[in-house]
Amino acid sequence: MSAIIISGTAVAKQLRAELALEVATFRESTGVTPHLAAVLVGDDPASAVYVRNKSKACETTGLNSTLHRLSAETTQEQLLALVTELNLDPAVHGILVQLPLPRQINSQVILDSITPLKDVDAFHPENVGLIAQGRPRFLPCTPHGVQYLLAASQTQVSGAHVVILGRSDIVGKPLALMLLQKGPAANATVTVCHSQTRNLAEITRQADILVAAIGVPEFVKGDMVRPGAVVMDVGINRVGEKLVGDVDFAEVSQIASAITPVPGGVGPMTIAMLLKNTLTAARLLTESL
Ligand code: GUN
Repeated sequence: MSAIIISGTAVAKQLRAELALEVATFRESTGVTPHLAAVLVGDDPASAVYVRNKSKACETTGLNSTLHRLSAETTQEQLLALVTELNLDPAVHGILVQLPLPRQINSQVILDSITPLKDVDAFHPENVGLIAQGRPRFLPCTPHGVQYLLAASQTQVSGAHVVILGRSDIVGKPLALMLLQKGPAANATVTVCHSQTRNLAEITRQADILVAAIGVPEFVKGDMVRPGAVVMDVGINRVGEKLVGDVDFAEVSQIASAITPVPGGVGPMTIAMLLKNTLTAARLLTESL
């Protein structure tokens, strides 16, 4: 048996088309064009590609975007000064500081300095708290992309056992909170596994839905997956010239009932959700004027 391939590319394209209409309607009624300010520090090639893709997606969806490129030697004070400037700029609705940051900069200090109303990554503790309490202002982009793909593929999430591999602040932790909530594409029983988890394969084999977000190329093998499970691969790892996920696609696609590919799975959804959050931020900031 071969799994259904859940195309994030196709779902994200549809979502971006819907967002383009919403952005146009918003602009007509308010005169405001949602504007994302992206900040890239240093010259990590993968980060440069991600940020460029985010800016491009803004353009094609009718949002404004500005890219602030800073050198790898930027100090924490210099970056804080830029964030403060963007916080105060009424023409900027969303602020994204691409991670990882160079080692001389404390990421937590920078992320905490972004005003929560412009925090389109939903990394600020105030926004994380709102997510935990089930009343989100913004949903974090990658977890929201995973949840949206589960709904789009008509995967039953309510009552399902979701096993998440990885406890990062960007994916694992917020996704666990979101799928635990009452509501559509949620109400799951959630287990979060990590590097210290004992008998990992025993747990992953109990998953109705398995989410891999650990950043280890092709970590999830066929014998870790229950036949018929739905597998969401959040990993993007460069191996030589090739991009591979955290799931061994060749093996697992023979066992799962549905699976996201890499590339073309969760990745494009992350970008679409960033656009959605930038529109939400523009709405919030325009309504509060
Ligand atoms: N680096 C990897 N993923 C992300 C993300 O979702 N947002 C930001 N800002 N940086 C990242």
